[in-house]
Order: sequence, then C-alpha cells, then structure tokens
Amino acid sequence: MTTPTAQAPQKNSLSALKGLLPFLAPYKREFLLAGIALLVAAGATLAIPYAFKQMIDLGFGATGSKSIQHINSYFLALFGAASVLAIATSARFYIVSWLGERITADIRSAVYRHVVSQSPQFFETTQTGEVLSRLTADTTLIQTVVSASISMALRNVLLFVGGLSMLFVTSARLSSIIILLLAATVLPIVIFGRRVRKLSRDSQDRVADASAMAGEILNAMPTVQAFTHEGIEASRFDASVEGAFKTGMRRNRARSILTLMVILLVFGAIVFVLWLGAHAVMQGRMTGGELGQFILYAILVAGAIGALSEVLGDAQRAAGATERLLELLAVQPVIQPPAFPLKLPLRTRNGAALMLQDVTFHYPSRPQIPALQQVSLSVSPGETVAVVGPSGAGKTTLFQLLLRFYDPQQGAITLDGVDVRQLDLLDLRAAIGIVPQDTVIFSADAMENIRYGRADASDAEVISAAKMAAAHEFIEKLPQGYQTFLGERGVRLSGGQRQRIAIARALLKNPSLLLLDEATSALDAESERLVQSALEAAMTGRTTLIIAHRLATVQRADRIVVMENGRIVEIGTHEALVGLGGIYAKLAALQFHTAS
Ligand SMILES: Nc1ncnc2c1ncn2[C@@H]1O[C@H](COP(=O)(O)OP(=O)(O)OP(=O)(O)O)[C@@H](O)[C@H]1O
Ligand SMILES: [Mg+2]
Repeated sequence: MTTPTAQAPQKNSLSALKGLLPFLAPYKREFLLAGIALLVAAGATLAIPYAFKQMIDLGFGATGSKSIQHINSYFLALFGAASVLAIATSARFYIVSWLGERITADIRSAVYRHVVSQSPQFFETTQTGEVLSRLTADTTLIQTVVSASISMALRNVLLFVGGLSMLFVTSARLSSIIILLLAATVLPIVIFGRRVRKLSRDSQDRVADASAMAGEILNAMPTVQAFTHEGIEASRFDASVEGAFKTGMRRNRARSILTLMVILLVFGAIVFVLWLGAHAVMQGRMTGGELGQFILYAILVAGAIGALSEVLGDAQRAAGATERLLELLAVQPVIQPPAFPLKLPLRTRNGAALMLQDVTFHYPSRPQIPALQQVSLSVSPGETVAVVGPSGAGKTTLFQLLLRFYDPQQGAITLDGVDVRQLDLLDLRAAIGIVPQDTVIFSADAMENIRYGRADASDAEVISAAKMAAAHEFIEKLPQGYQTFLGERGVRLSGGQRQRIAIARALLKNPSLLLLDEATSALDAESERLVQSALEAAMTGRTTLIIAHRLATVQRADRIVVMENGRIVEIGTHEALVGLGGIYAKLAALQFHTAS
C-alpha cells in the first residue's frame, strides 16, 4: 500500500483512536452497562481494604463480649464486598468482550466492503497481503483495546483516584510523600511510551510486508517450483521475517525497560513510605489496622499505575493500527458513479449500440505512454466486431474502458447513446458480459462458478448456459458433475475447461454487450469449433466484441478492427482487409499459410 502507509505518523499518538468513535457509537447502551459494572466493581475493590482495617482494629484488636459478634459481621462484610466484586467483574468482562468482538467484526466488514469498491488503480498499487494484514492483524489489535484496554483503563483510573483519596483519608502525611515520589515516575513512562509506539507501528508494517510476500508466492507455487526458486523464496521470506523480528524486538526492549522502570520506581516509593509508616506505628501515631489499610490502598494505586502503563502501550499499538485502517477507509475509488446517474434506455432486441469518440487513454502508472490514441469506433446493435492486432496494441485496454475500470483522458464512450460516465457503475456493468483474458475460477463447485454470472439464476439456467458454452459435456464427466469442487483458482481444470466455464458465466448473465478477450485461445481446434458455433448462437440478440489472435476465430465477424500501438489502423471485413494488403493481410498470409 504505497500511498496510505507512506504517510508520516501523526504527532499525537492516541488521538488516532478517535477514529474508532463511529464504530463505538451504535453500542452506547452496552458501554453504559459496562460502565455501571465497572463502577460497582471498583467500589467493591476500594471497600475491601477498609473492611480489612475494621476487621483488624475492631475484630482482632477489640476485647470483650462484643468481639465475637464483631468478628462475624466484619468477615461477613468482607465476603459481601468480595461477592459484589466477583459478580460485577464477570459482568463487565462479558459485556466488554462482547463489545470488542462486535466492534472488530464491524470494522472488518466495513474495511472489506470499502476495499472491494475500489477502482482497479487501487489494486495496481496495493498488495493484497497488506490489505489482509489490515483486516486481521490490525483489527485484532483494536479488539484488544476495545475489549480489554478500555475497561482496564477505566477500572484503573477509578482505582487510582479512589485509592489515592482513601490514602489521604488514611494518612495525609504519608500520602503526600508517596504522591511526590509517584509523580517522578510519570516522566520516564511518557518518554518511553512514545518510543514504544513508534516501534510498534514499524513492527506491524514489517509483519505486513512479510505476509504480503508470502501471499504472492503461495499463489504462484507451480511457477516457483518450475524455476526451482523454493530456496530463494524461502530466504527472501527469512530476511523479511528477520526484519520483523528485529523491529519487534526493538519494541520489546523499549517496553521491557519501561516495565522495569515503572515497577522499580513505584515499588521503591511504596517501600520507602511503608518504612516511614512502620515508624509511625511504633511511635503510636497510627494503628496497625490503619497501616494495613494504607498498605492495601498503596498496592491498589501502584497496581493501577502499572496497569495503566501497560494499557497505554496497548492503546498506542492500537492507535497505530487504527491509523492504518482509517487511511485505508479514507481512500476514495478513483472511478465514481455520478451523483445523478442516467438510466440506460430499455434494452433493444439486437443488443447495445456502442460508440467510442476520439478516445485517448494512458494508464495512471504510465502517464507518458498512451495505451489508446484517438480511437473512434461505432458499433451498431447486434453487430459482431473482432479486434485484432499485435500483443500490447491496446485491445484489452479497450475492454477495460468499456467496463469503466478507467476513464479516458480524452474523448467519450457511449453505450446506447449515454456516456458511460453518466451511468451508475452497477447499471453499466450489468449490461456487459465479459470473458477476460485471464479466466478466474473461484474455489467453489462448477454450478456456483457459472452462477457467478447471475446470482439468481436457477440450476436449469446454469446448465443451459453451460451447454451453450460447450462446457456441459465435460462438467457432466467430472466426479460429482456440477457439484464438483474446482479447486482454488480452478487448479483442477484444464485451461480450455476454465475458459468454457468463464464463457458460460458470461452467457448466463445474458448481457446486451458481450466482450470476449481471447475467450477461446486455450481451446483445441475441435473444442474451439464447438464453442465458436455455440458463441455464434449466443451472439444473436446482442452486440459482441471479440479479441482474438487466431484469425480463424474472427473471419466471420461483421467487421474486423485492426489495432497497432494504441491506434485503429484498419477496419473492414476479412475479405476487404485481405484485399487491402495491409497489416491484416500480412497476418492472414502468415497464419493461414502455417495453419494449412
Ligand atoms: N495496468 C496497466 N498499467 C500500465 N500499463 C498497462 C496496464 N495494462 C496494460 N498496460 C500497457 O498498455 C498497453 C496495452 O496493453 P493491452 O493489455 O491493452 O494489450 P493487448 O492488446 O490486450 O495485448 P495482448 O494481445 O498481449 O493481450 C501495453 O503496452 C501494456 O504494457
Ligand atoms: Mg490483452
């Protein structure tokens, strides 16, 4: 993700967490409940040292007839406080964990929904592995914060404030001393906290790098092994993992120093004050119970500070994660539907009319080199137009623009007289069926893979589309027929079989404009003839554009468009173009010579 993650981290670390507010907002009621449970639990915790003191001074210390009764009631009170603590704490844990899971799920869905609506340009510059690590690692960090850290923080702030007040109530003198000492510990915590946060973000980025790399390689295993690159790839991954390890360890070092300082300073301060307290008891300025109470409160306060510094570390890591997720959520698709889209005219019996006027286009990543130059073409409804030309001529690019994956820098493309930029993207793409140059098969069965063309198609419709694409016969022969799982990316099919599934998928959609990009290139002559005649049947009632290298495929097209270097150089029927004696004639001479 070169664009978003390259930005400098924000100055104020935790402010990034504010970006989570919209995700927390729907659950105000649950937060309120958690808050109540939290308050009750903190109250019970704070009551325990006081109950302790009563027990020691009045229960153990007192003499006489009331002593037994006292002991009973103070022990009961102590147990009561503990029971309230138990119930409130478990309730808080439940609610807060629920919130954590719920909000993480919401964020994951929102990010995914956002990512899948991005324009192709986004995916040219973004590694899928990066997006995946945002969806998993970063959201998990946020889950920690929402489910554990928020409640830990609140609980410990309450304990800190409450414990501190009770310390003062118990002994103002000792408390003042302890406060001064604790204040001295804050400075190093803050300084080191900053460092930990920066290192956390680095370490997350390194992990994302490593998983992005692994993702790409795992998707290309046959190539990796054919070129015997296993060792090289493993070492590359090693290096990447090692980088992640080093940054991770730098973070952990900083964090362990932080922990060391916090514990040493806090406990040093407490031990010192207790030492003073012990003297006070010996001199009779304090009772034993009071000192006991003071110790317990001091432990609560110190524990709260320790926990808060932990929470701060987590919160800072989560802030880094939030920052990255928000950056991802802030990326707007380059291709936007218009605010007030026009509707396509009702579909005519013959299919769509298509017009390109002076279209000039270069890919965003190659501003210098136009992929299409002043391309003008008018295709009437029902016409079949073949597009031929050398590799890199801009044929596939033409299709990309028709689907509005990109907008041309100059010129316009109209479908049935409406500029494609005036249409809702969903309407435009619903009207177009495409068999792409690289067929995509999803890890599902044959039925579902064809049904991808139209989600609400019945089984019978799927089968008739498969018949049209000459795919029915081979699918029937698969072990479980249409229910056969085709493997991840269709690895269990041959190239030609994959193409026929893709053709069936496009036909099922019943589009008014059919785009075939080398749709039959992987088929043997026999299957191609089968698919060809099937396609011819399918082409009636719709406008069709066929890209093909094999001229035998395109001879029967109504017109043939010859492209070269992003320009249309010749247009005409097969016979006319052969007669012209230009590029097409040369290609034809070559192909039909070698073929026959
Ligand atoms: N996403 C992209 N970013 C930058 N340049 C691209 C991109 N896709 C294609 N190109 C370039 O645009 C030019 C036209 O490519 P296009 O895919 O349209 O060729 P083609 O005619 O379909 O070729 P082939 O017959 O090999 O499929 C090529 O020079 C190619 O390198
Ligand atoms: Mg192509």
